[in-house]
Amino acid sequence: METLTAESYMEGLYEEDAVLTRVKEVIVAKNMPEISIAPGYGRLLTMMVTMIGAKRVLEIGALGGYSGICLARGLKEGGKLLSLELKQDFADVARDNVIEAGLGDFVEYRIGEALDHLNALLEQGERFDFFFIDADKVNYPNYLELAIKLANPGAIIAGDNTLMRGKVVDEKQTKASVQAMRTFNQRIANDPRLESTILPAYDGLALARVK
Ligand SMILES: C[S@@+](CC[C@H](N)C(=O)[O-])C[C@H]1O[C@@H](n2cnc3c(N)ncnc32)[C@H](O)[C@@H]1O
Repeated sequence: METLTAESYMEGLYEEDAVLTRVKEVIVAKNMPEISIAPGYGRLLTMMVTMIGAKRVLEIGALGGYSGICLARGLKEGGKLLSLELKQDFADVARDNVIEAGLGDFVEYRIGEALDHLNALLEQGERFDFFFIDADKVNYPNYLELAIKLANPGAIIAGDNTLMRGKVVDEKQTKASVQAMRTFNQRIANDPRLESTILPAYDGLALARVK
C-alpha cells in the first residue's frame, strides 16, 4: 500500500475539482511553472474570503489563475478580485481560465511589477479586505508593508511558501530570497499592527489580520 502523507490523505477525502484540475492541465500544456497554491490552501482562501465577506481582494502573482479562481469563488455579487502579474502571457492564461470557470466578471488583471501597481493603488487611496501574496519571494517584506497600508481594518493578509521547501529553516541557505522570507515571517509574527499565525502544512502559509 502506498504511504500517504498528511496532505495526500486529506486531499484524498475530497472529490476532484474539475475546474481546478483543468487549470493545472492548461499550465502543463503551456509549459508554465507548476507552482499553483496547494489544494488545501486553495480551499482555505475561498473559505476566508467568504467568512469575512470580503468585497475587494488583491492578489500578487496570478500564474494560471488557480488561486484567483479560489479567491473569486468566495466573492459575492459586486465583489472584485484585482490580480497583479508580471507576465502578460501568464495573465492571459489566468484570465481565460477564470472566464472558463464562470468567474470572469469578478476578476481584473494588471500586468507589470507588482510593487509599481501597489504604490499606485496606495496613491489612489484604494483599500482592500483580503490580500494574497504569492509572487517573487525577495519582495515579500515590501508586499507585506504595502498590504498593511492598503488594508481596511480587519483585512486578512495571506502569504504562500513561507517555508520555501525547508530553506527558511536551514541556516546554510543565505540567498536573498530566503533571507527576505525569514524577514517576512518575523514581521508576520511580531508586527504590532497584526495578529497572525503561520501554518506549517504544504509549503507554509502565513495568515494575518490587520488590527
Ligand atoms: C507562485 S506563482 C503564483 C501562483 C498563483 N498565485 C496560484 O496559486 O495560482 C508566482 C507568480 O508571480 C509572478 N511574479 C513574479 N514576480 C513578480 C513581480 N515582481 N510582480 C508581479 N508578479 C510577479 C510570476 O510571474 C508568477 O506568475
